[in-house]
Amino acid sequence: MLTQADIIEDGRAVALAWADGRQARFHAVWLRDNALDPATRAPGNGQRLISVLDVPAGTRIASLRLERDGIEVTFAPRHVATFPSGWLAARIYDRDAPSIPGWTGPDIVRWDAASLPVVPGADLATLRADRAALRDWLAAMRRFGVARVRGLGCEPGHVADIAALFGFVRETNYGRVFDVRAVPDPNNLADTNLGLQAHTDNPYRDPVPTVQVLACLENSVEGGGSIVVDGFRAAELLDRDSFALLAGFPARFEYTGSRGVRLRAKRPVLELGPDGELVAVRWNNRSAAAPVDVPYARMEGYYEALRRFAALIESAALSVRFRVEPGEAFVVDNMRVLHARTAFVSGGRRWLQGCYADRDGLFSTLATLEEQSA
Ligand code: FE2
Repeated sequence: MLTQADIIEDGRAVALAWADGRQARFHAVWLRDNALDPATRAPGNGQRLISVLDVPAGTRIASLRLERDGIEVTFAPRHVATFPSGWLAARIYDRDAPSIPGWTGPDIVRWDAASLPVVPGADLATLRADRAALRDWLAAMRRFGVARVRGLGCEPGHVADIAALFGFVRETNYGRVFDVRAVPDPNNLADTNLGLQAHTDNPYRDPVPTVQVLACLENSVEGGGSIVVDGFRAAELLDRDSFALLAGFPARFEYTGSRGVRLRAKRPVLELGPDGELVAVRWNNRSAAAPVDVPYARMEGYYEALRRFAALIESAALSVRFRVEPGEAFVVDNMRVLHARTAFVSGGRRWLQGCYADRDGLFSTLATLEEQSA
């Protein structure tokens, strides 16, 4: 609840105070632009009806009234709008900017082998039938960037059922669903019995697939275990100079292993938003191309930074190991969590199927479920 509201700076802003001690200023131009009245936002879909050109540069607050649960603002040029106190509290921007690059928001919990001994999981039937269980499983995906699913069945194609829980399959040149199993003369090193270093998938795409699902149909080999690594945790442990180099210069990724496919992307290993938020990790030894965007004077340092990041990613302390059994799957946030496979002995059979999907659908489904249960 708001306890005080004052016009400040000749009407260019208001200063508000809440009963819980919070205080914040809001600009007149911001309030006018984001007003909630039906002339500013369509009542049905909430979409904006005005553009920034409808908000004059000299917009001021002519008068302000503290109401029971919000404020009523009269602007000049004249327009009247009310703002609920809770709505304003959820949109406070009057605070110090984060000073340390690489921060992440409150929904993300970084983990390592000690803090995440078991990857969270649920049964597919439960996720389909129980919306609270689906909400909690999606929330675990948002928090940790990885989650397991059991009870999928071993028939080909079922991996797409997991994407359908929260969104849509993203089809690529590998198909809607792709196989990962040992084959002679493979297009991709994933299709061998070699161990695969921890990686994010397809950094050579732009935009990169933001979710990957991997389902196990057969696994009777020795070895062939799965490993996941929190790339955000590895970035946090990196020294500041190395972090600045991997975030500050683009890397190059490419895949040209199939006829008619020449995929290339220029993105940093550690991608930051303009406010320093860590938004993505891209790491894939198989598809790393020669870096050509690092100045000569920084290249040796850049390689040292790559070496240090690789050592963190390969470290046992960050590696969470598990074995996916037939009928099980795991899902990773492909902009954060790296996955790896230990080498396996040919002779048995190991058949995984994967598909890509996207985080926007996952977060949208989660937000909808959270609203319903609020
Ligand atoms: Fe992969």
